[in-house]
Order: sequence, then structure tokens, then C-alpha cells
Amino acid sequence: MLILGIESSCDETAAAVVEDGRRVLSNRIASQVPIHQRYGGVVPEIASRAHLEQIVQIVDGALADAKVALSEIDAIAVTRGPGLIGCLLVGVEFAKGLAVARRIPLLSVQHIAGHLYSPFIGRERDAWGVSVADPAPPFQPYIGLAVSGGHSSMALVRAPLTFEPLGETLDDAVGEAYDKIAKHIGLGYPGGPLVDRISAQGNPRAYAFPRPLLNRDDYDFSFSGLKSSFAREVEKLGGADAIRGDEKIIADLCASFQAACIDVLVEKSHRALRAHRLTRLAVVGGVACNRGLRAALALRMKNITVALPEPEFCTDNAAMIAGAAFHVYTAGAHSEPTVNARVGLELTATAAGWQQ
Ligand code: KG4
Ligand code: ZN
Repeated sequence: MLILGIESSCDETAAAVVEDGRRVLSNRIASQVPIHQRYGGVVPEIASRAHLEQIVQIVDGALADAKVALSEIDAIAVTRGPGLIGCLLVGVEFAKGLAVARRIPLLSVQHIAGHLYSPFIGRERDAWGVSVADPAPPFQPYIGLAVSGGHSSMALVRAPLTFEPLGETLDDAVGEAYDKIAKHIGLGYPGGPLVDRISAQGNPRAYAFPRPLLNRDDYDFSFSGLKSSFAREVEKLGGADAIRGDEKIIADLCASFQAACIDVLVEKSHRALRAHRLTRLAVVGGVACNRGLRAALALRMKNITVALPEPEFCTDNAAMIAGAAFHVYTAGAHSEPTVNARVGLELTATAAGWQQ
């Protein structure tokens, strides 16, 4: 079964073709980073206009890369929420139009559910190391850590698209904190990959940043205080202008900030795995690209199978949406053409959200 997926919840216009929920035949992404760079963050109105300008060619490109015609597509999948409303609407309305015109099912997917499904897709192997040509092996539950610019949440995944939310950030998402501290010291946008790269040159113990909420016995996160501690440390050093160009100080600051984020993410994942007696962890979302985090997981996750999707499936993409939608389809949970985008669609609303 071939599903064409469409994703436009934030600043990436994406389309992909995925076979039987596993094999990625194409994965087109138009990033708006160059457009939003000069503002240091995503400007919603500009983002929705850019989606409108991009969507036709991105969908055409995804079909062309997959070497399939629109007439061969069996269903259209789309991210229904959460996200920026103007952005979501572009994808949802476009998907509706295609599904109605082609008279094929419309399948809506919750964005984080898509991220949490991303370990099961791939071009040859999935992130668990299983060939996507093979029938999927029996499902084993796992702890999913979704870390991106918009979200930081942990969930127990009991079956495909069956989630028990465990915790989430009480304020900033971890990627958002990366982006904000990078902006604060003038590194550029998006800050995550830049801070990651610079951290490799720094001393992670140079500055003692807090490990927020590790004192609490739950799975919630908080990154806003860590961001403020970073800003206070910069002030102590004379301010952002004073340290500009000082590669050693900047590398030490970045490495120390990154170490704090990693400690929190790794420790809370450990606790969730232990509490639920599980040995499988999937880390997904843009921050899962982080090289420091990947190295820490390899080192500190003993006897745990860790799934880390390829970077192209970590950052926002439509392949994860088309993949997840296969299970929406097999559950018979098609959406009507009256379905609406939802800014705050809940992970647990996935089933209900399928209908309307
Ligand atoms: O999943 P994504 O593309 O979009 C959202 O759903 O938010 O994630 C983008 C976020 C940005 O905040 C970006 O700075 C962060 O992921 N990111 C990283 C890295 N690569 C992307 N953060 C830390 N280290 C990285 N290597
Ligand atoms: Zn995302």
C-alpha cells in the first residue's frame, strides 16, 4: 500500500511516499530556515505563506522521487496538529483536496505520534536495525522520548499509535532552549546544530548549570530555568558582546549547557525504562540529531536497545506521517473531508482525532 504523507505543522514543508508503513520511497523537505534566519525564529504568518508557495512542488517532487504517479497512491496522510494554525491549514486543506479529487482515504496523524513512529521507517533498515523489506517483527513496547524545537515529552508506546503519556516540558522545549541560548550569544539560527558542533571543543564541566527537575520523581521537564542560568553566567562574564569571538569561553558555555540537557534526558529515560521494566528506548525529534546526546546514549544505556532514526527522519518530515498513517488506515480510522486542523491536538487524542 502506498501512502503519500504531507507535513506542514511548523517551518518545514514536507511530502513523502511510504510503502506499507515501513519503506520510505521518497522524503522531500523544503526547509524555511533561510527565510526565518534573519528573525532568529519562526514567524508564523511568513511560514504559512511559504508553505503555500512550496507545497505543490514538494508533493510533485516526492511523487517523482518515488517514481509513482498520483493515480498509484492509495491514501493521503496529513499532520492535523499540534502546530501553527496557518501552517497546519495549508497541509490539511491540500491533503483534503487531493483525497477528494482522487476519491481515496484521508488519514490524519498527530505530529508527535508521527515522531514516535519514526523508528519504524527507513529506506533499507529501520532505526531498530530491522530490514523494511521484512514484515515488521512482533511489536515490543518502548519508551519514546520526543525532543524537538516544539516539544519535549516522554511516552510509553504500548502498540503502534497507542501511547501512555508519561511527562512533558512545563515550559520551553529542549530544542527551543538550544535555539534561545544560541541567539543570546549571537551564534545564529537554528541554534541546536551550532551549539552541538561547538560543544565538541568545550569542557562540559566548565560551568555548573542546573539539571532541572531531576530532584522530582516524575517524567516532566523544564528547560526555561536552565536557559536563564546560561544567561546569568553570560552576564557574569561581562555580557554577550564581551564574550563574542572568545572561542574558548563560548565552547565551554555550550558544552556545559549541552551536558546539563543530556544528563536530564538520559537520566529521566533511565528512570522511565526502569519503572516500566522495559529495555527499548527510542529518541526522536530534531534534538535526537544531537551528537553529544547520541554519544551519551551509547555510553550510558547499558543493556538497552536504543533506536535513533536517521537525521532526515528526526527533524520534521512527512515520511513519519505517511508511515504512522498506515496504522490509522488498518484501524479503519479514516478522516472525513470536514476534518479540521487542531493547534493543540493531544497525543492521546490520536484515535479520536482520526475521526473528526
Ligand atoms: O523536529 P524539528 O525539526 O521541529 C520541531 O518539531 O520542533 O526540531 C527542530 C529543533 C530545533 O530547535 C533545532 O535547534 C533542534 O531541533 N536541533 C538540534 C540539533 N539538530 C536540530 N538540537 C540539538 N542538537 C542538534 N544537533
Ligand atoms: Zn516535530
